[in-house]
Amino acid sequence: MTQFAIGESDFLLDGRPFRILSGALHYFRVHPDQWADRIEKARLMGLNTIETYVPWNAHSPHPGTFDTSGMLDLERFLREVADAGLYAIVRPGPYICAEWDNGGLPAWLFREPGMGVRRYEPKFMAAVRDYLRNVLGIVRSLQVDQGGPVLLVQVENEYGAFGDDQTYLKAVADIIRDAGITVPLVTVDQPVDAMLVAGGLDGVLRTGSFGSRAAERLATLRKHQPSGPLMCMEFWDGWFDHWGGRHHTTSVAETAAELDALLAAGASVNIYMVHGGTNFGLTSGANDKGVYRPTVTSYDYDAPLDEAGNPTGKFHAFREVISRYAPVPDVVPASGTAAPETSAALGSPVRLLADPSGWGAWSAHEAMPTLEILDVRLALFQASIDVDGPALLTVEEVRDRAYVFLDGDPVGVLDRERHDRALMLPRGRGRLEILVEDQGRVNYGRRIGEPKGLIGPVRLGSAELTGWSACAIDLDDLPHLLDGRTPDAPGVGPTAWRAGFEVAEPADHFLSTVAWGKGIAWVNGFCLGRYSRRGPQETLYVPGPVLRPGRNELVVLELEVTVEPVAHFVARPSLGPLEL
Ligand code: GLA
Repeated sequence: MTQFAIGESDFLLDGRPFRILSGALHYFRVHPDQWADRIEKARLMGLNTIETYVPWNAHSPHPGTFDTSGMLDLERFLREVADAGLYAIVRPGPYICAEWDNGGLPAWLFREPGMGVRRYEPKFMAAVRDYLRNVLGIVRSLQVDQGGPVLLVQVENEYGAFGDDQTYLKAVADIIRDAGITVPLVTVDQPVDAMLVAGGLDGVLRTGSFGSRAAERLATLRKHQPSGPLMCMEFWDGWFDHWGGRHHTTSVAETAAELDALLAAGASVNIYMVHGGTNFGLTSGANDKGVYRPTVTSYDYDAPLDEAGNPTGKFHAFREVISRYAPVPDVVPASGTAAPETSAALGSPVRLLADPSGWGAWSAHEAMPTLEILDVRLALFQASIDVDGPALLTVEEVRDRAYVFLDGDPVGVLDRERHDRALMLPRGRGRLEILVEDQGRVNYGRRIGEPKGLIGPVRLGSAELTGWSACAIDLDDLPHLLDGRTPDAPGVGPTAWRAGFEVAEPADHFLSTVAWGKGIAWVNGFCLGRYSRRGPQETLYVPGPVLRPGRNELVVLELEVTVEPVAHFVARPSLGPLEL
């Protein structure tokens, strides 16, 4: 069997120096029927390894579960990497950052009072142990020393940017070793002295995350990793976008020159990302360094392979750079062609507020519960109010957006990005309804693990407002909730539509959302993700394998208002303006 080890100055594959030329490709952001295509194209760029994170919360949506079906079939993914003749790096967290909801930590963990977050706390450690045993049960037999592709396993992720609990970090490494992982372990940190100290472990190779100034970053890394190979575990070749922000790209020439400098210095690399893919469903995360900024649905990342898997200018430039250091296959993947264009009228509207009874399970609560208690991302709350009006409605913090209605009429919106905390209700009597939306959990920094909903007591004047009914809106099942519903007259509040459209063959499509407000879309029951008129993203990627020849069904849940109730599938993606 192949042996992979850390030498004095190099990785050693069966005793011979080996440079890792890796690209990040997250299986959970790509339709499984497209994995092989993306992996093969990464190989054609000259890479010899594919790296992936593992998202705990996607595999364990509920306590005690570990789902490996469909897009979560890690074993199939790693086997496809091996079948392409490539090696693999696995980064199972438990925290992964990655612009992924909650940085991968399951929201249900934090329903338990006192649960630790990324520190040595018994309840957190017990959950981490269960999770890592499940993942590593898959990875163990796929290690290179057992005939599989896996060369390295990473412990945690940029831990030095978060904490300094060495007991925790060491315990995570011990759990990984105890689960039968025999290949070398690594940590990754930004190349800052304090972070490399807090995030590193003796006996575990330190690597860095950076996208520029390779010589200087590698010198910092070398101070903390006096021997062994130097590796940039995240060579950032692009960046991600936030709703309401600009679309990020990087110069092809400059990024290629940075890659060249890194390879010229003799380092190993994991290009983050070689192919970004998509935050399908409600999986995108958010940042909050004082202002909450949710991440968009596309994870194109301006990577060498775009969101639809087509080679870009960066692909060709990187391939050329890599060819100076390693053999690169002769074949070049074909460029993408325009997507089929078609339109479909959105059918009759079904309004949530017209008859909210059937949109999910209802429960009664004295104080307003968090969304984690209800186990949903979107909930409708109702209460009766009876005070002399106008009346001031206040909360401590809105997470993340609340639409307020009085007797069915919209009276305002509370938004986290604006730090809204108060709304003056025009009357003090009537049926108060509040739709609360989680727009993505923070994936970096201190706010990981925080609850969603209206935080702190909800007050009317100085008194806490109690006696709530809550509807946990079942978004997974939303397309089916429309079955058999009688259409409503158009009106205010969240509205769902269905539209049938014809497809000649199941090729990739791009759904334009420019005429819509803010909501979520599904095709044939597959959740494409969120859309927002704020942009920058103006199209949603529809992977070909989700479609079928003949009739297909689109479902749209619009939380605000559409200009035009028509779905347009357009020839190319639009990820938005590069400047604001
Ligand atoms: C860090 C994290 C990654 C990702 C990138 C930004 O390096 O480790 O998970 O969040 O930042 O894309």
